[in-house]
Amino acid sequence: MTLSTEPLIRIERLSKQYEMGGETIRALDEVSLTVLPGDFLAIVGPSGSGKSTLMNVVGCLDTATSGDYWLDGEEVSRLRDNKLAEIRNRKIGFIFQGFNLLAKLTAYENVELPLIYRGISVKNRRQQVVEALRKVGLEERMNHRPVELSGGQQQRVAIARALAGNPPILLADEPTGALDTKTGKEVMNFIQELNAAGHTIVLITHDISISRQARRVVQIEDGRLSEEEGQPV
Ligand SMILES: Nc1ncnc2c1ncn2[C@@H]1O[C@H](COP(=O)(O)OP(=O)(O)O)[C@@H](O)[C@H]1O
Ligand SMILES: [Mg+2]
Repeated sequence: MTLSTEPLIRIERLSKQYEMGGETIRALDEVSLTVLPGDFLAIVGPSGSGKSTLMNVVGCLDTATSGDYWLDGEEVSRLRDNKLAEIRNRKIGFIFQGFNLLAKLTAYENVELPLIYRGISVKNRRQQVVEALRKVGLEERMNHRPVELSGGQQQRVAIARALAGNPPILLADEPTGALDTKTGKEVMNFIQELNAAGHTIVLITHDISISRQARRVVQIEDGRLSEEEGQPV
């Protein structure tokens, strides 16, 4: 028997253009990319290279101008906003540079929020929130608000929020960008542990030393991708 490994992300010749004052900006230029279950992929490139545009498309926050995108086997290239949002909620856990926690909510409530959107029952929510906070070592702080937590702890709450409900893909955009070096290293170590535990991770960064901690590195420049040579896959 042969085991077939279906890609979680399959992108084929995807382009995104912006029209600005009569000028066409090719933010993504015929990008192709495959991410398999269990991958830890870093996409690295300088400012203006197309990272955020790619993150938005991969994360189903935006659609491309042309090309194809299959997410966990489902064609999502030409879906309408509400359908795209529904798939995004189920398939992707987001980790942002600025944590994006709601200041008025406790750690518990922040982690719970996407589960409410997914229509999960109160009882199952409680179990999933506590489990996610335990994974990031913050079970004891579940009633704290973001201001009562350090930057590293806030990012761990955000990671717990991304993990809750166990989506197949974690998408991290400059996850250490707002942290000091030491805390940034701890967060990267934690992301590596998550990958070792089987989570599929796509990490976007401008920092080569961060991208080196991934298993696979793809470079982006002027909206085009190229895989780094000599990287173990
Ligand atoms: N909404 C937009 N309208 C017009 N141009 C945009 C828009 N968003 C991004 N761009 C342009 O697309 C290119 C890629 O931008 P972006 O994806 O934000 O790069 P990065 O995240 O790597 O800095 C840049 O030239 C940027 O100016
Ligand atoms: Mg950007």
